[in-house]
Amino acid sequence: MTESKALSALTLGNGVQVANRLMMSAMCDLGGTPDGQVTQEQIDFMQARAGFGALLVTAAAYPQPNAKGLPGQYSVANDADVAGLSRLAAAMKSRGAKAILQIAHSGREAAIPAQQGLRVVAPSKMTFPWIKYPIAEMTAADVDELIADYGKATQRAIDAGFDGVEIHNCNHDLLQQFFSAYSNHRSDQWGGSFEKRAALPLAVLKELHRVITAANKPEFIVGWRISPEEVHGETVGYTVDDMLKQTKLVLAAGIDYLNLSLTGLEYRYDSKPAGHAHTFAQLFHAIMPANVPLYIGSQVHTPADVDAALADADGVYMAREALVDPEFTDKLKAGRTADIITTMSEARLKQVHLPKALAEEYATPGGFREQIPLVGLPN
Ligand SMILES: Cc1cc2nc3c(=O)[nH]c(=O)nc-3n(C[C@H](O)[C@H](O)[C@H](O)COP(=O)(O)O)c2cc1C
Repeated sequence: MTESKALSALTLGNGVQVANRLMMSAMCDLGGTPDGQVTQEQIDFMQARAGFGALLVTAAAYPQPNAKGLPGQYSVANDADVAGLSRLAAAMKSRGAKAILQIAHSGREAAIPAQQGLRVVAPSKMTFPWIKYPIAEMTAADVDELIADYGKATQRAIDAGFDGVEIHNCNHDLLQQFFSAYSNHRSDQWGGSFEKRAALPLAVLKELHRVITAANKPEFIVGWRISPEEVHGETVGYTVDDMLKQTKLVLAAGIDYLNLSLTGLEYRYDSKPAGHAHTFAQLFHAIMPANVPLYIGSQVHTPADVDAALADADGVYMAREALVDPEFTDKLKAGRTADIITTMSEARLKQVHLPKALAEEYATPGGFREQIPLVGLPN
């Protein structure tokens, strides 16, 4: 039997080697306390999945109090958050994986901070049909503070013992909102032309490098997650060609891996943008420098899916499969592929170490079942 390519080692942009090509991608697990502290349930969730991939990414952590998008997210906005995050990092590293903290700012998508009376911010003051609370347009000083807060969050990730961070420049978060011509109508240095709309993600990346250099941590990993397009019918925030152009600038500035978020019911690891002959994976793989790996995923559940995804990428991420079968990679390594479980059931939801709120969310029709359904659970 030939060993799956997925189990061969991979070198990241900064020269750090990871033992295999599998990643557990970020998943908000709804398990944190209302004030953003890590709970034992979240540590148990990660401990059960410590062997899932050579890179394990946390749920999105918020770098400012008004940046929380979902209940139970953990905070990386305060120095006091480091103690809980360090327990999480230790669980993630307990079987040799690299632990990556995802940092995400939800921008306008901040219903919980709005309920708490916090000032919800966005690139431009606009109304959106689905948003019922006021949104403030960020001032130039707000943008400077935001950039600095990404740096402080990165320092806290270092202090907590993480091996790296992943910047969430995707899934409609604040950095994406700045790049989106639909959401960003500014006329200052942070909006208008392509270059100005791309300026904020690049400024955040520069600040990360400053912090990591000052901490003398060349082995600290900078991961970067993008949504390859923002196209909803007639509404176009940016096209795949725009994002290819932004990513070339990001790659020139220096990242250690790129993660292509193909999150959403319409996407799979082999999806193509409308009007293109190539898949998203092929288009982005073609612009990667030889030393920086591309991770792709979405609807990867079986070893055959992993192999198919690796045809056009260097690494593969899985999210929902990690919920369904935390032992996927152990079974693959042991040649027990027939034992891999790809279907969830209401009974199994209680057996796979999910935080109670996440299990309940999936046990209830609607909710996550509609947005990010698990194979085996009907809507
Ligand atoms: C419960 C759940 C929570 C998620 N939370 C995040 C998140 O915090 N950050 C992020 O970038 N993606 C998040 N995602 C998206 C996944 O990382 C992944 O891109 C998506 O689920 C598609 O991959 P899959 O088919 O392997 O699940 C989440 C997905 C799930 C199922």
